[in-house]
Amino acid sequence: MEDYKKNIIPHSYKITQSDRVERNGFLPKLVWFTGLSGSGKSTLASGLEDYFFKKGTNTYILDGDNIRSGLNCDLDFSDESRKENIRRIAEVSKLFIDAGVLVFTAFISPFKEDRYSARKLVGEENFIEVYVDCPLEVCEKRDVKGLYKKAREGKIKYFTGITSPFEAPENPDIQISTAINPITDCLQKLIEEIEPKISI
Ligand code: ADX
Repeated sequence: MEDYKKNIIPHSYKITQSDRVERNGFLPKLVWFTGLSGSGKSTLASGLEDYFFKKGTNTYILDGDNIRSGLNCDLDFSDESRKENIRRIAEVSKLFIDAGVLVFTAFISPFKEDRYSARKLVGEENFIEVYVDCPLEVCEKRDVKGLYKKAREGKIKYFTGITSPFEAPENPDIQISTAINPITDCLQKLIEEIEPKISI
């Protein structure tokens, strides 16, 4: 262990996660969306948050482009930076769970190993992996942000699906096909799966 770490002594506070859970009346979880850019992660996170927030659940969304504009603005899209991106998000999510919040994350999170580390960090029982399955051709056709076009033109380095890999989950907790199903059906399925998991 590095020397300075020996002098860090975590403090336990009087009010615990159980106190917050008891007051809030639901179990905080991390709903982790993974999928290609343009697959629908943010749209689904937004729809779900809308549903749960309006039912009185404390919610929050951590989103790739937003977090990369602040906390993670020092990170690029190299493999190492993506790993660090996910590590920090997992740590932040852990705090949100401790605070008693239902948290949704919308990051490409292309590497299995990093998603696995996030799951381990927040605890298996708190982590719900949602694979937003949408073929590259469909995401590229949507090209909401015009980034696939730029990537094809060689103007963006390491673009996921084009010049950087995406390792699809083999065994996600929930799989949603946004290319096949309308968004309302996708949301319905997610609500049906998630609602029982957060009820006390
Ligand atoms: S991750 O791979 O590190 O998980 P993250 O979700 O934070 O990615 O950010 C992805 C978003 O950044 C994309 O939706 C897109 O808007 C933008 N972006 C910019 N450059 C790239 C790139 N090279 N690869 C993928 N997304 C990129």
